[in-house]
Amino acid sequence: MFTLIFNAIWLFMPSYTPNNFAVITGGGKPIDLGRNFIDGKRILGDGKTFRGFAGGFSGGIATGIIQYQSEKVLNFHIFTSLSFDSAIYLFILLSAGSLFGDMAGSFVKRRLGFERGRKVPLLDQLDFLVFSIILASFHSSFFALYTPEVILVGIVITPILHRLTNLIAYILRLKDVPW
Ligand code: CTP
Ligand code: MG
Repeated sequence: MFTLIFNAIWLFMPSYTPNNFAVITGGGKPIDLGRNFIDGKRILGDGKTFRGFAGGFSGGIATGIIQYQSEKVLNFHIFTSLSFDSAIYLFILLSAGSLFGDMAGSFVKRRLGFERGRKVPLLDQLDFLVFSIILASFHSSFFALYTPEVILVGIVITPILHRLTNLIAYILRLKDVPW
């Protein structure tokens, strides 16, 4: 069980970190360019910016690369069961999926009339993971690494981890609210 939880956290790490990097690098021009949707509300809102996306995307890939190198040094093989190029492709899919999922979540929140920053428990905590999984499933080795057990454990523990990291970001004054 411990190994399964560790594997799930390790395998989804490049999906977790993009949002944290986005918090650090975010600001400036919003991705929706400040425009409203047909319902008169913002498409995504000021919380989704180009800088946040770029920083998050790079951060997710960097996380994967650091993990890949760590595996080689510590001599265990999860991502290193793939060639470096193949692993990079996986990190790109996980990282991009995470950010697109986060944007999709904001799109849904705006349609439901929630202000930017409003907490919507399961949506906030799983949007990025679900999109990461969908995008990463295009990788030819996805199902070899991400077994049904890993995916299930990932979905169960992610809301808990998400709470924890947001709380840390709040304590470090990187976020205005602890969620
Ligand atoms: N962020 C960003 N660009 C992104 C994602 C996040 O700039 N693509 C930054 C923003 O500063 C944002 C912060 O990270 O405020 C936290 O992200 P998140 O909680 O996803 O955004 P919220 O501000 O809560 O907005 P929303 O209600 O749309 O989720
Ligand atoms: Mg939020």
